[in-house]
Amino acid sequence: MKAIVCNDFGPIKDIKYMDVENPEIDDESILISVRSVGVNFPDGLLVQGKYQLKPETPFIPGMEVSGEIIELGSKVVDFKIGDRVAGLSRLSGYAEKASVKFSSVFKIPDSMSFDDSCALLCAYGTSHYALKQRGQLKKDETLVVLGASGSTGIAAIQIGKIMGAKVIAVASNAEKQKIAKDSGADLAIGYDNLKENLKKISNGNGIDVIFDPVGGDTFDTIARTMARKGRLLVIGFASGSIPKLAVNLALVKEFSVVGVFWGAFTRAEPDEYKLNMIELFDWYQKGFLKPLIEESHPLSKAAAVLEKILARGAKGKIILTP
Ligand SMILES: NC(=O)c1ccc[n+]([C@@H]2O[C@H](COP(=O)([O-])OP(=O)(O)OC[C@H]3O[C@@H](n4cnc5c(N)ncnc54)[C@H](OP(=O)(O)O)[C@@H]3O)[C@@H](O)[C@H]2O)c1
Repeated sequence: MKAIVCNDFGPIKDIKYMDVENPEIDDESILISVRSVGVNFPDGLLVQGKYQLKPETPFIPGMEVSGEIIELGSKVVDFKIGDRVAGLSRLSGYAEKASVKFSSVFKIPDSMSFDDSCALLCAYGTSHYALKQRGQLKKDETLVVLGASGSTGIAAIQIGKIMGAKVIAVASNAEKQKIAKDSGADLAIGYDNLKENLKKISNGNGIDVIFDPVGGDTFDTIARTMARKGRLLVIGFASGSIPKLAVNLALVKEFSVVGVFWGAFTRAEPDEYKLNMIELFDWYQKGFLKPLIEESHPLSKAAAVLEKILARGAKGKIILTP
């Protein structure tokens, strides 16, 4: 089969589209004929050796796929050949066929496209877990979403609205702010004068929950806008810079800095993770969630797509099709 292979950690352009052996499945795995591969920011970090996970090379990157089941391990229950499914794995997704543990495979309803089902995994899964379990977001609270036109950002806006928050999106230009507004944000603003603007918007009370997938210098600014008992959610560092916090700010304002690592959650709390996915699929079927699929490209274009995402070029979700 064809797949994208990372032979050595290094520049993204060095990943190769090539022939590899078909994957084997163990007793608890499902072989999926892949129709859509979700591209995620961490995939680009992974192939460069800049991610917390450093697999042995060579490896096939890619954590989320959807397609039809073509083979089942002997201990797999509740699935059959031909089922439309979406699956999450740590690696191996950028390929025509992928083997995924059945505990991380979800049947997808007929009304859900393969592309949308990919978006609901890492992007929506992360934002949902962040706002629900980690951020304990409550109705009528103020939620600020940074990186708001990115894939986790759009998911956080839509989920924040479902949870009843007032959602303020922050994005770097007018086009991205419009995307955030169209995704349901009550307000979309830029990064200029952020502290003053957030103070004004919250009537001087500060922000209850901030969703930050960007990091960098903005982190210090937003840490100074928190409400008492607020929760500052650390999602990622798309800016490429891991900020430091003057912890006196947390003391004075009595806010919490809360780490979010969705991948760890899926492994450590599989039952809770499944319930979260059921809730997301239910919201999707009710029409509350609308993933923004920006583009779809052939699998062979993986390097160009990853370079675009890591160069601040993503708006919503990008899909690769084998
Ligand atoms: N903690 C977890 O469990 C988890 C799960 C998934 C992803 N993540 C992390 O979350 C971050 C965002 O992921 P995502 O899927 O939302 O990515 P994305 O779709 O590429 O969006 C990232 C956003 O960050 C902003 N940004 C600011 N500076 C940037 C820069 N130098 N390069 C690229 N983007 C920049 C961009 O918006 P503006 O131009 O408007 O600033 C962009 O829209 C990544 O660091 C990823 O690794 C964490």
